[in-house]
Amino acid sequence: MSKTIVAPSILSADFNNLLKDIKAVESAGAEWLHFDVMDGHFVPNISFGIPVLKSIARSHHMFNDVHIMISDPYYYADKFVEAGADLVTFHYEAVKDVLDAQIVINKIHGAGAKAGISIKPDTPVEVLDILLSSLDLVLIMSVEPGFGGQSFIDFTLEKVRYLANVREEKNYHYLIEIDGGINAETGKLATDAGVDVLVAGSYIFGHEDVKERIDSLRKK
Ligand code: DX5
Ligand code: ZN
Repeated sequence: MSKTIVAPSILSADFNNLLKDIKAVESAGAEWLHFDVMDGHFVPNISFGIPVLKSIARSHHMFNDVHIMISDPYYYADKFVEAGADLVTFHYEAVKDVLDAQIVINKIHGAGAKAGISIKPDTPVEVLDILLSSLDLVLIMSVEPGFGGQSFIDFTLEKVRYLANVREEKNYHYLIEIDGGINAETGKLATDAGVDVLVAGSYIFGHEDVKERIDSLRKK
């Protein structure tokens, strides 16, 4: 049983004290830092982009897990790698078809980072089948992308189980990440279903007991 990776999402951090919040989750044992890029077009919210990533990517030692909820992942993917992304996850719904998705995956790999793809709650997981052998990560959205603090959508766990089975059967190497409404209770449902990486924003940031909260997400 591999150790659960915890990836705090800075979308819920205190932007008046961003570095302080980042250091707090790092010293509390978070392995990854989840960076939610929103363009106000693919999702109905605007967050932050390349200048912010550039300024924080090297200010900590966690793995920079960049989730781009944007309409033109092909154009921007390598720019996020140059800005410090260790992994870039784009959305299946932001590209025309699996061929385009494969082109974006190849571009991320060509720029020297790991490549992930994400699907919204209503997108069937089977659309990813042909891409799975080349992916380093699949991100299952357990909320509609765009905002922190939403409630976990249970049926998305079916997709986690599917991906865990296919990975086992075909001996693929991708990690399974879940994002949205994660707390100690939903985090356990997710890790029991086969999730490797838990993204959590509002459950971690804005609270005094950051270490306890991060520890509570580890697979029991
Ligand atoms: C939503 C983002 C999530 C979000 C998670 O579009 O992709 O990463 O910040 O926030 P919580 O954990 O509060 O649901
Ligand atoms: Zn995210």
